Amino acid sequence: MKKISPFHRRSAEELDDFLKKLELQAIETAEERIPLYIKVGIKDAEMILDVGCGPGMVTRDIATLTKGIVIGVDASEEMISIARNVLSDYDNVELLVVGDAHSLPFKDETFDITTCNLLLMWSKDPQKVVNEMARVTKRGGIVLASLEPDFGGKVHWPENPKVDKIFAGEAIKRRGGDPYIGRKLRQFFVRAGLETEIGIGNSRIWSCEEDKAYYLHSRDYYIRVLKEAGLSEEEIDQWEYEYLKSLDEGIELNFFPQFYAIGRKV
Ligand SMILES: C[S@@+](CC[C@H](N)C(=O)[O-])C[C@H]1O[C@@H](n2cnc3c(N)ncnc32)[C@H](O)[C@@H]1O
Repeated sequence: MKKISPFHRRSAEELDDFLKKLELQAIETAEERIPLYIKVGIKDAEMILDVGCGPGMVTRDIATLTKGIVIGVDASEEMISIARNVLSDYDNVELLVVGDAHSLPFKDETFDITTCNLLLMWSKDPQKVVNEMARVTKRGGIVLASLEPDFGGKVHWPENPKVDKIFAGEAIKRRGGDPYIGRKLRQFFVRAGLETEIGIGNSRIWSCEEDKAYYLHSRDYYIRVLKEAGLSEEEIDQWEYEYLKSLDEGIELNFFPQFYAIGRKV
């Protein structure tokens, strides 16, 4: 089976799938992220950095919730140029810059809040990224990792032994990510010298209607992942038929924990 690098050049089709997935993910996770932004005092923060901002859909939520200056950084030029479009109407988004989270292009103690969403799971050295986030944060400021999943805690019913394991970590690993990043957050934050609070952001189980809407919106992405994992068209058709049937019957249940970490720099 082919291993895919997270930085491989995406085709136009893959890019479209990826953006659709991130956009929907940003909408669907807003109920988990927004209380965290409020809790860490984003409204009154003066300088906020979103690390691994991607196409800017999460950065947009941050910019809406604060009067402060928002800066985004991402390793991908493609993502930054999309983010510049997505955020062009937001006057408080001052800078969107290409840069590596392992060596952030900012001075020590620049930001009141330094945040990331779904970045650490894709980072080569997550400890180094959290250390960097702590470095650029002011004393008394906050480092926030708003959502980092742990697919080891994934619960899914009805079972499909062939497909479940692909979506419970294998696909993320093949793409170069760490599906078990959630459980490691405390270690990264404590070792970065931060006063740390860990929690699970998503306590609500989605309804079958929500799961179905999410699946249909991101269907191309899921089918591509199953093809990359080596499933035949027939196996994919059979799985999809059974999956949609369980959703229509209203019996499907899917859950995996999304951890967050709040670290105060003392
Ligand atoms: C799953 S996307 C999440 C984007 C955005 N935070 C969101 O939640 O919609 C991960 C993003 O992290 C970026 N990324 C991965 N490794 C990075 C690194 N070392 N430095 C900066 N950005 C990185 C990718 O280019 C991608 O845009």
